[in-house]
Amino acid sequence: MRTKSPVTIVSDNDQIKKIIEKIDKVVDTDSSIMLVGETGVGKEIFAEYVHRNSSRAEKPFVKISLSALPLNLLESELFGHEKGSYTSAHAEKKGLFEIANTGSIFLDDIDDVPLPIQTKLLRVLEEHEILRIGGTKPIPIDVRLITASKIDLKILIEKGSFRNDLFYRINVVPIYIPPLRDRREDITPLSSHFIKMYSNGKEFKISDSALRALKMYSWPGNVRELKNVIHRLTLFADEEIHPCDLPLEIRNEDPLELIVKACDRCFVDNDMSFDHVVSCLEINLIKEALQKTECNQSRAAKALKMRLSTFRDKMKKYDIDCGNIFNSP
Ligand SMILES: Nc1ncnc2c1ncn2[C@@H]1O[C@H](COP(=O)(O)OP(=O)(O)OP(=O)(O)O)[C@@H](O)[C@H]1O
Ligand SMILES: [Mg+2]
Repeated sequence: MRTKSPVTIVSDNDQIKKIIEKIDKVVDTDSSIMLVGETGVGKEIFAEYVHRNSSRAEKPFVKISLSALPLNLLESELFGHEKGSYTSAHAEKKGLFEIANTGSIFLDDIDDVPLPIQTKLLRVLEEHEILRIGGTKPIPIDVRLITASKIDLKILIEKGSFRNDLFYRINVVPIYIPPLRDRREDITPLSSHFIKMYSNGKEFKISDSALRALKMYSWPGNVRELKNVIHRLTLFADEEIHPCDLPLEIRNEDPLELIVKACDRCFVDNDMSFDHVVSCLEINLIKEALQKTECNQSRAAKALKMRLSTFRDKMKKYDIDCGNIFNSP
């Protein structure tokens, strides 16, 4: 658990610990940080962590989702406008870059930003100044930029919908936050953290079988989904949480579907080679069987209807041991 700042990032996962170490190294520089990860993995909480631990912590921290607004509103929101610059501009308005001046700005959903705004963002980052809509006088800006994206922007660059030069400006420190299904050891500490957050002092215990179900589930909504599930449990469950208290989708997830979902990355990475996908499935099947049998290789091999020697050969081939079965495939 990390609580140097008012932002608490809970994790027992080595990759997350490395991310925190990486951030701590650059936190006091002005380098732009880009957070990439699926919905709900914690991009915003990491952005807060960066700001609150930086030398800009006492200065403004401004957040905006670039997917939430139509083009003209977005432009005026980011850069502001002068009085009379368009019909409804009755008064001058400061943009978010001006409001964030001397602090940090968090541009969420940068993958959704339209090309004309990309061009203007690039200008701000290169010139360190903004021009309000309808304005003629550049205003100097000093901000730390943090961005977040749900997908690898290189895919958008290839499609021509993201500017290469902007990408290099914002991607100085790239940080990939893995999905919760690839760091299942975080499920227990996160659940305890959220129970404490929501239980109003009431004691809750999660039964072993309920915890197993939570650990087996694929969490498409990642930490946010877990947080919401725990919140609901603290409202309705008795002191001991059993599998029957869990939402249906968590209780009933088809184990095969789960293993295929855990291989999402093979597909997302656009690596569709047959061998790659098959290896990914094999690794997940083996890890799943080991997790279920508490690392008993004979029982795990039996569960997969495989000879023990074949099972061991595959463990060796894929470098799987009991120390790494909870880590990402
Ligand atoms: N490691 C963590 N420790 C404690 N809380 C966490 C952690 N990761 C995420 N959370 C909490 O889970 C919720 C979702 O996280 P967050 O909003 O940062 O995700 P996100 O990646 O920005 O999602 P989206 O892409 O949908 O905007 C938040 O309430 C956040 O505080
Ligand atoms: Mg977010």
